[in-house]
Amino acid sequence: MKTRDIVVIPGDGIGPEVTQAVQRILEKAGASIEWIEHQAGLTALASGADVMPQETLDAIQHYGVALKGPCTTPVGKGFSSVNVQLRKKLNLYAAVRPVRSMPGVKTRFENVDLVIIRENTEGLYSGVENEVTPGVVMSMKVASEVACTRIARWAFRYATHRQRNKITVMHKANIMKLTDGLFIRCAQQIHKQEYPNIAYQETIIDAGCMRLVQDPSQFDMLLLENLYGDVVSDLCAGLIGGLGVVPGANIGDEHAVFEAVHGSAPDIAGKNVANPLALLMSAVMMLNYIADQHGDEGARAVATRIRTAYDQTLEDGCKTRDLGGELGTDAFADAVIDRLG
Ligand code: NAI
Repeated sequence: MKTRDIVVIPGDGIGPEVTQAVQRILEKAGASIEWIEHQAGLTALASGADVMPQETLDAIQHYGVALKGPCTTPVGKGFSSVNVQLRKKLNLYAAVRPVRSMPGVKTRFENVDLVIIRENTEGLYSGVENEVTPGVVMSMKVASEVACTRIARWAFRYATHRQRNKITVMHKANIMKLTDGLFIRCAQQIHKQEYPNIAYQETIIDAGCMRLVQDPSQFDMLLLENLYGDVVSDLCAGLIGGLGVVPGANIGDEHAVFEAVHGSAPDIAGKNVANPLALLMSAVMMLNYIADQHGDEGARAVATRIRTAYDQTLEDGCKTRDLGGELGTDAFADAVIDRLG
């Protein structure tokens, strides 16, 4: 693997501990990375910087790729989400969240293999909220033809490259006729005009969620607007063992930030019990992205090596508490390192 400069943002809560574990595994696996560390979230605030420092954004723009730990967002008050700011400011419009059954992790379903594509820049995450009159507040849901078309095209192109054969859009266009209506119309158009060979389906999201928990194997790729994508990602995490095993990528045309789907988990922060696997899987996605972007097959080889090692670790019954095991964060990382071929 050619040496790369990559931005790392440890984040808040369990962020620093899982990030450190992942960096250790990457190094032992032979990933040649110069980490450029920057802060965001409460950690940045505590050091006297802005919650989303401009220099962190500049660094991602400069180096192109970042690995990010979760950042805390206060509920019902305080600053607006660092994660949302980062995705919008860098135009990381496609969130990609692969959800697959993990070896050795027993759940109700055995063969879950889904990819969720979430539109990352619009919807109710526009953050436009106001008080109309005391006791009455409103929040604006934004959809633009440009963004809806862009995410649909991105999803179909991904499906083609990854040999996926069906995309299901989940929506509520029976109620939100304009916004969700636009979302499905753009997807229909891209399907019809550019990717007619990929199967295309639509389902109203409430019924879609019921079908997901009854039999996830009927879905292949899901395409959703921002809020639905957020909620359905956690729902799908629940199908395969929880948030400890779902990685993610936020991808734009020029930059990409890789982060787990889970948050900063303040309830377990600092206790060395968090599962670092979701961030490790995100790092594997990052190495494969680098391989695709730069034709660096060395990066792909390191990614495969890590993936084989963590699959084997789980198969051998070495798991963190969230998956029914007993290992702490560091011990789990050691177990993966022991299995690097
Ligand atoms: P959360 O994902 O942090 O935690 C939900 C539950 O899952 C908790 O019980 C937690 O202990 C558990 N959990 C999460 N990750 C885990 C891991 N790696 N290993 C073991 N258990 C794990 O969601 P919550 O509690 O809703 O949010 C906490 C904070 O994180 C909030 O401030 C929220 O805004 C932020 N957040 C940040 C995200 C990001 O930076 N991308 C994404 C989601 C939430």
